[in-house]
Amino acid sequence: MQPWWRDAVIYQIYPRSFADTNGDGIGDLQGILDRLEYLEWLGVDCLWLTPIYPSPMADFSYDVANYTDVEPLFGDLQLFDRLLAEVHERGMRLILDWVPNHTSIKHPWFEQARSSRTNPYRDFYVWRDGAGPGIPPNNWVRAWANEPAWTYDASTDQWYLHCFLPEQPDLNWANPAVRAAMHDTLRFWLDRGVDGFRMDVIHLLAKDPNFTDDPEDLKVLSHVVLNHQDGIHELLKGIRNVVKDYEGDPMMVGEVYLIDAPLVATYYGDGDELDLAFNFEPMFRPWRAEAWREIVNRVIENHDHRDAWPTWVLNNHDAPRIASRLRSAERVAAAAVLLLTLRGTPFLFQGEELGLENAVLGDGEVIDPGFRDGARAPIPWDATPTHGWTSAAWMAFPPDASDKSVAVERNDPQSMLSMYRAVLELRKGSVALKSGDFRWVTSDDRVLAYERVNGQEVLRILINFSHDAVEVSDRGHLLFSTGRDHRDGFDGHLRPDEAVILAV
Ligand code: GLC
Ligand code: CA
Repeated sequence: MQPWWRDAVIYQIYPRSFADTNGDGIGDLQGILDRLEYLEWLGVDCLWLTPIYPSPMADFSYDVANYTDVEPLFGDLQLFDRLLAEVHERGMRLILDWVPNHTSIKHPWFEQARSSRTNPYRDFYVWRDGAGPGIPPNNWVRAWANEPAWTYDASTDQWYLHCFLPEQPDLNWANPAVRAAMHDTLRFWLDRGVDGFRMDVIHLLAKDPNFTDDPEDLKVLSHVVLNHQDGIHELLKGIRNVVKDYEGDPMMVGEVYLIDAPLVATYYGDGDELDLAFNFEPMFRPWRAEAWREIVNRVIENHDHRDAWPTWVLNNHDAPRIASRLRSAERVAAAAVLLLTLRGTPFLFQGEELGLENAVLGDGEVIDPGFRDGARAPIPWDATPTHGWTSAAWMAFPPDASDKSVAVERNDPQSMLSMYRAVLELRKGSVALKSGDFRWVTSDDRVLAYERVNGQEVLRILINFSHDAVEVSDRGHLLFSTGRDHRDGFDGHLRPDEAVILAV
């Protein structure tokens, strides 16, 4: 039997922008609870909630002030328990976002730590002397700005490390007390019954004990994408021991934000570290058949030899939405077929199934310190002026919010939503698509052609990456197409930007 997370389609919820029920314009857990019917209807298997912990919101809950409670804007623990029970009741699973690399400056640990050099919590964080008066300990640069990853703390005359905002001090995982305390935060949620964790910037946990400068020519990238230390493998094994102690095979998917695919693959260990690691490369590649052929080959190269299971993702809360990147509804639909038919676990981001584009914000409207607001716009639930939000939402809706609302698309068999649902349904009924082998098929250069195979079940997928109509010699029974009714059959004529799934 496959572990559940190999078969699952995972749906990322950004709670703040999902659904609001109490009129403050901010999505909440009750909103998710009220919309579970929709998610079950859509056919996803597991929900991933981005952080729901109490937070001053400098980085929208990725600055955690308490790992074992719920942010009051979103609800409380009791409501969380109800949500989890209802998710399980409906046959779905739920994973939380675990933010182990840094806390908020408002976390009691940090408030203690900064109070004096001898405080017992001092060593929970990374403190260093400056390289000279007013000069940070080394040249590391924080995320999103060409600024030091260090902030000077005048009262104790030392600098603390923060790979992200100064409001997000890095924890010191070299300290066994930190490891123990953070392991306990996992147990807290596992005891409540969660099905696993998405582990935020997990590659940052092990730090260079010598705090060596980053190479000058790479510094522009920020230290976040440069930090890899072999010590991470021990830390991951320790985390895994905690998680896998629980029944139901709780899943660990790591955000390993390194730009080196072979290195990312080592985070699976020998099946004793992460279960899954995100693969972000495809998000930044052009929509061209050669580019995708190369990416898929890289995934095969890097994963197969260690029996590691790949992941596929086109959207998340950190990147511009694919509809804004590709600017063609036909191509977005073809990309969805690709995402859901490659070998691996696919991740969807709320609103992707509606074909939403990024919200367009004016100069004065940017809220996020990492400039990622566009993808985080609220979900339009219907075509009314407030789109199913009880009052004005906390930020602007995406373009064409009425036409792309859930209510409108649910009633339209040609909509992006109906398309996603149909492919998800097909996938659910097909062992070949969920877990079958992958093999390339020779076809036209403009077409990505491959098969998913499970014994007698052979599905052939053809993705036309061009705006041209293409003649192919492939034949088979048409199970799905982004461009035509399947009753029309398949005669070897691929339409511009069309993706088809054939049974052969
Ligand atoms: C991850 C999250 C991102 C967050 C950062 C710091 O990259 O996906 O949203 O800002 O970590 O926690
Ligand atoms: Ca609310």
